Amino acid sequence: ADVSLLGIPLELGASEAGSIMGPAALRTAGLPALLGEMGYRVTDHGDLAQPAAVEPGLKDADAKACRNPGLIAAWTRLIHDRAYEMAKGGGVPVFMGGDHSLSMGTVSAMARHCRDTNRELFVLWLDAHADFNTPATTPSGNMHGMSMAFACGEPSLMPLLGDRPFVPVPPENVHIFGLRSIDKEERGAVRDKGIQVVDMRMIDQASVSILLQGILEKIEGRRAHLHVSLDVDFLDPSIAPAVGTTVPGGATYREAHLIMEMLHDSGLVGSLDIVELNPFLDERGRSARLLTELVTSLFGRTIIDRPARRIRVA
Ligand code: ARG
Ligand code: MN
Ligand code: MN
Ligand code: MN
Repeated sequence: ADVSLLGIPLELGASEAGSIMGPAALRTAGLPALLGEMGYRVTDHGDLAQPAAVEPGLKDADAKACRNPGLIAAWTRLIHDRAYEMAKGGGVPVFMGGDHSLSMGTVSAMARHCRDTNRELFVLWLDAHADFNTPATTPSGNMHGMSMAFACGEPSLMPLLGDRPFVPVPPENVHIFGLRSIDKEERGAVRDKGIQVVDMRMIDQASVSILLQGILEKIEGRRAHLHVSLDVDFLDPSIAPAVGTTVPGGATYREAHLIMEMLHDSGLVGSLDIVELNPFLDERGRSARLLTELVTSLFGRTIIDRPARRIRVA
């Protein structure tokens, strides 16, 4: 099997600088080498180079409400083009970020690829946040807080993609998992659009295993491509401090590994974003190491070899 890696050193969508170093930290933690040792054919496409700003095409008031709209528009188009090519090339693309605004490019590219190949795209958004703000609702101006709204077709953000064909993700195919911080207007939008949400309260009550199994069972048996977008702040800050937007009460070490193992067993994962890793905020590389470990679990590393089978509860 093939894995293709792309580094996306982008930090302009966040207020805290440092995620530009994310791809380097994941390589230093050994991600390409470990996947290679597991028997995958790994192609590392290196890092995207910073593009020049473009005219973002947003309405004036919207552009004013956003930080770095011209650069984010340029990055979104560049990321979309490369991600689309990688998907066409076959194998599983792994996008090493970079802040979460990069998902405007990756998710739109996967949606377009899925339309070409007659597959249904599902998105698992592992995140403390919904990232469902728009220029009109953003409290911060940070565009990493808008990427899910973009992927679902928020009209005010559409010009960011320039002349590329935009294929929206149906909101009912989006599963936000781990939510525990949402702005007032995002909450209304998420509810109205019919985005599927598993919040931390549900996880506490029902366990990640039962909740994720429900999602996977819905997707199985269809011609589906599951895109996983893993925001570092999905994890509890005590195990992954290297992120600018920590929120207490995140996924534990064991929950995170179990999720990755179940995702592997499902055989549904077609692409992966690893976003918001800010090595400047890390402690001796522990967050980068943990993420690398989690990705190897997602690609099938197990404690002992055993058949991939579900442990049925009740
Ligand atoms: N909701 C907040 C905002 O819009 C925080 C977003 C954090 N997003 C992230 N990808 N870490 O600014
Ligand atoms: Mn494909
Ligand atoms: Mn996010
Ligand atoms: Mn987040």
